[in-house]
Amino acid sequence: MATAAAHQTARAEADGTADEAARTAAYEAVFDAAVAADERIEPRDWMPDAYRSTLVRQIAQHAHSEIIGMQPEANWITRAPSLRRKAILMAKVQDEAGHGLYLYSAAETLGTSRDELLDKLHHGRQKYSSIFNYPTLTWADVGAIGWLVDGAAITNQVPLCRCSYGPYARAMVRICKEESFHQRQGYELLLALSRGTPEQHEMAQDAVNRWWWPSLMMFGPPDDESAHSAQSMAWKIKRHSNDELRQRFVDICVPQAESLGLRLPDPELRWNEERGHHDFGAIDWTEFWEVLKGNGPCNEQRMAQRRQAHEEGAWVREAAAAYAGKQATGASGAGRASGAYGASGADGASETDEQADQPTGKARA
Ligand SMILES: [Fe+2]
Ligand SMILES: [Fe+2]
Repeated sequence: MATAAAHQTARAEADGTADEAARTAAYEAVFDAAVAADERIEPRDWMPDAYRSTLVRQIAQHAHSEIIGMQPEANWITRAPSLRRKAILMAKVQDEAGHGLYLYSAAETLGTSRDELLDKLHHGRQKYSSIFNYPTLTWADVGAIGWLVDGAAITNQVPLCRCSYGPYARAMVRICKEESFHQRQGYELLLALSRGTPEQHEMAQDAVNRWWWPSLMMFGPPDDESAHSAQSMAWKIKRHSNDELRQRFVDICVPQAESLGLRLPDPELRWNEERGHHDFGAIDWTEFWEVLKGNGPCNEQRMAQRRQAHEEGAWVREAAAAYAGKQATGASGAGRASGAYGASGADGASETDEQADQPTGKARA
């Protein structure tokens, strides 16, 4: 690959340079050129420390959102109104767990372990999307989450499939395919309710009323208040600004709401011929910052359940580690040669291999 070859050459040249600053400048030039040429940065490539830490922060927050996001909907699995709805919802919630796994794995390629990231989540040092701090009060909320929350996630995430960091971009391709199923199941659920009895229609409308504004907040603060946006765009981690994506989402939702026979709860929402977009009302950013600070309706409950699930799952992690240890001492490589799982499980790479492959943070040649 072009990037890999360029990095190899730059490393060779830079390694011959005794001067530390010149070496870093040479690495940096290759990195900048790769980003400018829309090439992927891979785990073993040199990257600026700030690029690495920005990615870890963003991917971790994304991974945490996937697994915390399982809670509001899982709340309805036992009360789904039919076997079909239950099977669909279970599949969706399991998908979200899978998304968390892809993303924790992507973060691990940057030299941070999953344990470390989970520890930060459990101690409130890393965040997850605030949308999951709202409660799911009725069955229609499952539909509104699929349509609006997964819909907003897709709008945010499709451009991430072209993110400059390879492992993150590739994880997003698969995630987006599954998110699209989630969005459709939510839309279909709401459509069934909207066309149902007056009570069912009212339930669907009420769910949309409650989820619409928090969904718009999912795109983050306005561009002029967004701390990380400009740098992330320069590094091509992000491709569009928060406001741009929010506008795109509103424009997508308006005709879909009409087809659903439901109203979006914004009296100022109207088509603006001149802009070629819908105008919409002001977002209550005070609510956003409050929820972000931990004062949303379900922040405490979500974190308590997450910590409890982690503690209750300790025996699974211990059993898996004990099994892996047994395999490592007993099978002495025969298992791996025959295609069985390697020492650390399904990815076939032992923990030691993984650690050896980790970049050390600075210019690892
Ligand atoms: Fe997801
Ligand atoms: Fe989803």
